[in-house]
Amino acid sequence: MRIVAFNGSPRINGNIDILLSESLKEIDLSVHEVIRYDLNKMKITPCQDCGGCDKTGKCIIDDDMGKIYDAIRFADRVIVATPIFFFSVSAQTKAMIDRCQALWCERYLLKRDISDRGFGRKGLLLLVGGMKKEIGANCADACVKAFFRTISVPKHETVNCLGVDEKGAILKHPDYIYMARNAVKRLLLNNNAREGS
Ligand SMILES: Cc1cc2nc3c(=O)[nH]c(=O)nc-3n(C[C@H](O)[C@H](O)[C@H](O)COP(=O)(O)O)c2cc1C
Repeated sequence: MRIVAFNGSPRINGNIDILLSESLKEIDLSVHEVIRYDLNKMKITPCQDCGGCDKTGKCIIDDDMGKIYDAIRFADRVIVATPIFFFSVSAQTKAMIDRCQALWCERYLLKRDISDRGFGRKGLLLLVGGMKKEIGANCADACVKAFFRTISVPKHETVNCLGVDEKGAILKHPDYIYMARNAVKRLLLNNNAREGS
């Protein structure tokens, strides 16, 4: 399978960076391919709502989103890992999601879904937030749910790591790392496979 993972945190060695790296260790690289994008290092212009993608499903802005569109199209599994910022995803994550308006046009206006390559398409959302309240996680989940459905990912699981604020504090929560690693194991299950295959 091809797994595409987005790190939406700007903090190098921060909580999402650590959580995502730990989670990806569950993936056997001799069997699967992992493509990780650290969004903060990429040039992703916010959507300009120019309508340039309405009739074609193709964005007319030329930047690093070009490679992300291709990766999304050919992914079997998509992981979004983002800190909760102001009760939502980080700006880095949101900029990438908004640029998928081109894929929204393709799916809902041009009626072309991204096809499944035989493994189904599934998603995983990893969230870290400083607060213990769930409202931020719920809002972020709603946003990423819209993204997943737009890119023809019909199912996703969300792992909430709440009450984790200081840089690197996730290491004091082995339970969260364990939950995320297990979620990746489940993500790799092939729901399309017949029993025994
Ligand atoms: C701009 C900003 C906004 C934040 N907003 C929230 C929030 O609404 N809810 C929350 O639980 N934590 C919030 N936090 C705390 C971060 O989610 C928390 O520090 C997280 O561990 C950062 O993850 P990272 O180390 O991967 O960047 C905010 C942090 C920043 C910098």
